[in-house]
Amino acid sequence: MCGIVGYIGTTEARPVLLDGLRRLEYRGYDSAGLAVWDGQKINLAKIKGRVADLAGLLQQQSVKGTVGIAHTRWATHGEPTTANAHPHADCKNNVYVVHNGIVENYKALKDQLIREGHTFHSETDTEILSHLIEKYLTGATTLEQAVSRALKFVKGTYALLAIASSDPEKIVAARLSSPLRIGVSADQVFIASDPSALLNYTSRVVTLTDGELAVITRGNYTITSLEDGGAINREAETIDWNIDEIQKSGFDHFMLKEIFEQPETVINSTRGRLIPAEGRAVLGGLADVEDKLRALKRLTIVACGTASYAGLVGEYMLEEYADLPVEVCVASEFRYRKPSLIPREDAVLVISQSGETADTLAAVREAKAKGVLTLGIVNVIGSTISRETDAGVYNHAGPEISVCSTKVFMSQLTVLALLTLLLGRQRRMSLVTGQRIAAELAALPARMAELLAQADRIKTVAQHCQSAKNFFFCGRKYNYPIALEGALKLKEISYRHAEGLAAGELKHGPLAMVDEHFPVIFICPKDSVYEKNISNIQEVKARRGRVIAIATAGDTDIAAIADDVIYIPKTLEMLTPLLAVVPLQLFAYYIAQSLGVDIDKPRNLAKSVTVE
Ligand code: M6R
Repeated sequence: MCGIVGYIGTTEARPVLLDGLRRLEYRGYDSAGLAVWDGQKINLAKIKGRVADLAGLLQQQSVKGTVGIAHTRWATHGEPTTANAHPHADCKNNVYVVHNGIVENYKALKDQLIREGHTFHSETDTEILSHLIEKYLTGATTLEQAVSRALKFVKGTYALLAIASSDPEKIVAARLSSPLRIGVSADQVFIASDPSALLNYTSRVVTLTDGELAVITRGNYTITSLEDGGAINREAETIDWNIDEIQKSGFDHFMLKEIFEQPETVINSTRGRLIPAEGRAVLGGLADVEDKLRALKRLTIVACGTASYAGLVGEYMLEEYADLPVEVCVASEFRYRKPSLIPREDAVLVISQSGETADTLAAVREAKAKGVLTLGIVNVIGSTISRETDAGVYNHAGPEISVCSTKVFMSQLTVLALLTLLLGRQRRMSLVTGQRIAAELAALPARMAELLAQADRIKTVAQHCQSAKNFFFCGRKYNYPIALEGALKLKEISYRHAEGLAAGELKHGPLAMVDEHFPVIFICPKDSVYEKNISNIQEVKARRGRVIAIATAGDTDIAAIADDVIYIPKTLEMLTPLLAVVPLQLFAYYIAQSLGVDIDKPRNLAKSVTVE
């Protein structure tokens, strides 16, 4: 979604702000802008389009100074236009604001401000904020007082930065349900909605939490509560993400780089957590709640999109090996369906890469309100979900830049396998079974590397399907969620129509669509449902459908039925999703590449969905 960057320091703000905006491009946006204090007035530059267009505009427009704020906007209220791009000014061009989130009562506030004589220049809800701050600057001695008073009237969500010519040597920031992080480095302070924009400059990061206001000056920051103005002491923590991880390292796209990083991802997600000899997992973030986990009667996994498909794989793992009843629910449904949850018997496990997804966060709050244990599997350290859940596990997948999630999905599956070991061994899993799962998990990175070495073969298979407009992805049991994920990957980056199906559902309707122009991808490793999958493949072949099989190495029988076969190394049934998803990611990537679409930033999508 939208991205925010702010800088106050000793060097020119403009290059720092542009660099930060470029690093936030992956989040998805439609316009960009910045405002910089030049010692006498604030200069504004904004444009509909890319950060490169803003940089072009800045070649013609002088924007100098060492204090500034910047933004990439993803339209919610009002079209993507230059007028609607942030920053937004007040009537006197004194106050400038950038904002992520939604002002829910913007209509009422706007009507009131218009009645009071304010003039608006955009259709956005954000512009309300600059005018409200203008209003409350009357009678205030500082910008932070005005911001704090203005926010008392705002309903909704925000991460906002404000600067003002009348109180210029500072940036005022405030947060409610939308992330903001301050990066500290000697006499410069940075602030951004995402650590990717800070890590080129510092790894010392302070996370603002909901209901807080920060005043950032050269080399310093103070945090206070928006509610009572009380001072809050918060030290910076070190984020050890490497800036090199945020570059493409020779790959054409971040998505391809992230696919190829997956063996390393499994290593990082299991490091220090897997004890193969004892057939068990140690998850430090759950240590304090292990007794509660032991007493659980049911687990509800809540997530969105790819993360929800990881949750579905987790459901199969936990039910089979931990004998724990599990239900998976997409977060946008969970929050409105009045789930029946019993304290001490139920727990809600949310899965989120960003840790900021609005629906998933709402699910955490709903579950907490019902008094049940909340757990998280989250990638972004210090994110809202990681802070609000009672306990949890970090993925340690590092930053994922491509909007299309690949390596984080892999890390989610890895953590769910670790969780299965932990809960399984607490319950009825034998030492021998635990050892077998742990050994297979430890062997997985090498197997994945073997699989990735077949990328050229997968590219050839993708080329065979380049002209197809519709695809089915079918799987059973552990690989049913992988069929859903394979279809989502293809839709998301190639804009081709794709449906993921439980293979057994084909003849209950979808089979009617199959003909020679309709590729059907079957995920059918040699597992407990192999024969059932083969019957479904025969049904598709009888309708002249084109079958691509993802099969286990050494399965020569399947080559006689399928049009194309991609082999994955043999592993334990429960871990086949971690291998089977890799060729599907590459398949989607190569189809999208042949179509020339913007793979890392698919149209209409954003990396982090912080609105409902
Ligand atoms: O940050 P989250 O994991 O909560 O995001 C959930 C979904 O928005 C996300 O997985 C989405 O489906 C991906 N773009 C898929 O590649």
